[in-house]
Amino acid sequence: MALPADSVADSVGSEARAVSSVIDGRPAAGPAAGRFRSTNPARLDDVVAEVALAGAPVMVSAARAARAAQRAWADVPAPVRGRAIAHIGRLIEDNKQALARLVTREIGKPYPEALGEVQEIIDTCDFFLGEGRRLYGQTVPSEMPDKQLFTFRNPVGVVAVITAGNFPVAVPSWYIVPALLCGNAVVWKPAEYSAAAAAAFHELFSRGGGLPPGVFNVVYADGAETFSGLEQALGAGLVDKIGFTGSTEVGARIGELAGRHLQSPCLELGGKNPMVVTGRADLDLAVEGALFAGFGTAGQRCTSLGTVICHESVHDEFLTRFAEATAAAAVGDPFGDVLYGPMLDEKFAERFDKFLGWVSPRHKVLGSTGVGRITAANPRTGFVGDPEAGIFYHPTIVDGVRPGDEIFDNETFGPLVGVTTYRSMDQAIELANAPGYGLSSSIYTNDAREAFAFRRGISAGMVSVNNSTSGAEAHLPFGGNGKSGNGSRQSGVWVLDQFTRWQALNWDYSGRLQKAQMDVTELTPDLEFRL
Ligand code: UN1
Repeated sequence: MALPADSVADSVGSEARAVSSVIDGRPAAGPAAGRFRSTNPARLDDVVAEVALAGAPVMVSAARAARAAQRAWADVPAPVRGRAIAHIGRLIEDNKQALARLVTREIGKPYPEALGEVQEIIDTCDFFLGEGRRLYGQTVPSEMPDKQLFTFRNPVGVVAVITAGNFPVAVPSWYIVPALLCGNAVVWKPAEYSAAAAAAFHELFSRGGGLPPGVFNVVYADGAETFSGLEQALGAGLVDKIGFTGSTEVGARIGELAGRHLQSPCLELGGKNPMVVTGRADLDLAVEGALFAGFGTAGQRCTSLGTVICHESVHDEFLTRFAEATAAAAVGDPFGDVLYGPMLDEKFAERFDKFLGWVSPRHKVLGSTGVGRITAANPRTGFVGDPEAGIFYHPTIVDGVRPGDEIFDNETFGPLVGVTTYRSMDQAIELANAPGYGLSSSIYTNDAREAFAFRRGISAGMVSVNNSTSGAEAHLPFGGNGKSGNGSRQSGVWVLDQFTRWQALNWDYSGRLQKAQMDVTELTPDLEFRL
C-alpha cells in the first residue's frame, strides 16, 4: 500500500521526543545514568527520541511504587478494571495511525505491518475487557456435607515486563493488558531503540485507562542496569513475576535469576522456525508463505521462518520460484510499498553480519543482487529510496544447509532463510526439531495425514498448515518450548495463569470438625454382581 506523499512527510517529521522513566505518575527523579539516541533506521539522520537512561536504583524505586499501588488496584472491582481496558482499546483505536507511524519511523517496520501491530493491541484489549466480568473461579462439591469448595484467581502482585523492540507495542500489550486486568501493578522496561513508541504506549495506557499513579510504571534502562535492578528488586521482595521477550541467551539468565527466587517467569524467546514443503504442497502458496515468513519485518520476528525443509521431489522447483519471488520483492523505504524495510537498529545489523559469515562455500546463495548491507556499491535491483540513508540488507536464501551448520542450528534474526531437503516425513520432523527451538512451525501439504503427523511430531508451541510461520492471532496461546521458552503461554485465556494464582477455599458450615478423607460416608456397593 503506497501512502500519499503528505502522510509520508508527516510521519517522518524531524522532531525528537525527550523520553524518560515514569514512576508513580511522575518523571523519575535524579540525574540520568546514561543517554541513548533512538534513530530512524531508514533515515539515520532522523533522531526519534533522546532517551534518559535510568540506573538500577530507579528500577527498584519503580517496583516499590508498584508494590505500594497494587493492593488498591486489586481492590478496584474487576469489571471496573475491564472498563479501563475497554477505554485504553478505544483510545488506541483513535490514535491508530499516529502510533503506527511512530512505530514505522522508529523501528522501520512497513507501515501496513505497523497498523497491524497496533491492531493487535486493540484486539488484545477487546479480548480482555470482557474478562473483567469473568475471571471465573469454580464452585466445587465437597466430599462432606455442609461444606463447600471454591477456587479464586488472585493477582500475583508486581509484574516486571521486559520487552524487545521488534514488536514495540503489540508484544508489550500481551503482558500489560492481562496483567493490569487481573489486578497487578506493572513495571515495564521497553527496548531503548523503541523508546518513543514505548512512551506513546505508556501515555495512551495511563490516560486512556485513568490508571492510578504507580499502577503502570515505565523504566528506560540498558540491559546491565535492568538486570541488576531486577536482581535487587527481587531480593527486596518487590517483584512477583517477570515477563520477558527477547533472546534465548538473556531469557536463560532471567530464568535462572527468577528460579533463585522460586519464581517461574513468562519467557518468550527466539525461534528457528521450520517450514516443511511436502511433495503434495501447493508450491505457489508455499512460496508466498515463505516470502512473507522469511523476509517480512526483515526476518526480525521471533516467528520468522528459519529453514525451509523441502521434499526432495519439489526442492528444485520450489527453490527456483522462491528465489525469483525474493529477487522481485521490493525492499526499502518502510513508508513505501515494500516487503520489508531496514534492520531495527545498528546492533541488529552488526549481529546479522556475523550470521552472514556463517555462509560457507558449500552453500548456494540466492535471492538478490548482492549479500550483506545494501549500498551504492552493493546495490539491490528495484530498491525503494536511498539505501545509504539507513540500514538495509539484501534478502539471502542459503540452500544446502544441514544440521551441524551454524546457519541451520541457530536463530539468524534478519532477512536470511535456509533451505534443506528431506525424504520421509519422519526425517522432516527430525530436521524441524533438530535446532532445539520450538516456537512456531509450518507445513504446506494437501494431505491431512501429513499435516497431522507433523502436528504430533513437531516440538513447537504453534503450528500452521498452509500458512506462514508468522502472524499468530492475538487470542490463541502464544509461546514456545525448548530454546524458545519455558512452556509459558501468552494471549487468550491461557495467559491468565501467568498473571493470577489459584487460591482454593473450603468452607465448612456443619458446626463440627469434619476430617477430609476420614469422615467421609461410604455407600456399600455390590462389586460381586455379574449379569
Ligand atoms: C514476536 O516477534 O515477538 O505471530 C511476536 C506473529 C506476531 C507476533 C510476533 N503476531 O508473527
